[in-house]
Amino acid sequence: MSEERLKIVAGNWKMHKTYREGRELALDIVERLTTTQTMVILCPPFIHLKSISTIINDITHLELGAQNCHFAEQGAYTGEVSASMLRSVGCTWVILGHSERREYFGEDEALLAKKVDAALTHGLRPIFCCGEPLEVREAAQHIEWVQRQLEGALFHLEADEFARLVIAYEPIWAIGTGKTATPQQAQEMHAAIRQMVADKYGAQVAHKLSILYGGSVKPNNAKELFAQPDVDGGLIGGASLRAEDFVTIVKSF
Ligand code: 13P
Repeated sequence: MSEERLKIVAGNWKMHKTYREGRELALDIVERLTTTQTMVILCPPFIHLKSISTIINDITHLELGAQNCHFAEQGAYTGEVSASMLRSVGCTWVILGHSERREYFGEDEALLAKKVDAALTHGLRPIFCCGEPLEVREAAQHIEWVQRQLEGALFHLEADEFARLVIAYEPIWAIGTGKTATPQQAQEMHAAIRQMVADKYGAQVAHKLSILYGGSVKPNNAKELFAQPDVDGGLIGGASLRAEDFVTIVKSF
């Protein structure tokens, strides 16, 4: 059944790479990627979007995403970038709700709901991130925590809008720490998320939803994570900055 879902590996470069380094990395990835059924999404910092869109132009299953967008169409928001601007440079995806945006930039569910709306209005598909901090996991409250994140930021959407989303489960304690969730921990949460979506939008929408795992995914653990029935791919941080590692992860299905 899970074969019907889109498999996705997205690289979140975070705040890494100068203009020249970014071009080199994108070119290196393109050279190493042979045809794949997996959707590969590169999410570099804003300054790279235009040049990388030219590099990946027309390559099937290779698309471009941003790491954030503003909720307004345009206006006096110094330093911000809108969803329609991202579309205009060839982006088709946008990461929203990353735990680093929540922690360092105060993004909460109410703000994220507006960003999700703006993205969808302008034809960007959100990769919506959720995930719990360590103390919440230790208190065994992780499923309720993620449920509140989805309810607050996403569950105002109509089913046809929700169907455009991808969800990334990124336990905060696993991000950049080298401490990956076990395949069983990832599977438990992914199955729980799919059930929440089924309860809200029905079995069909839930079944089609791609749910990615993020948090210290590396070439040596991707296979086991991606083998879980409800893990449809990964959102990769550190390992997306090395073409060889990233492409090995892409080929781990
Ligand atoms: P790492 O792969 O570096 O742990 O980062 C995960 C992440 O935050 C992807 O968005």
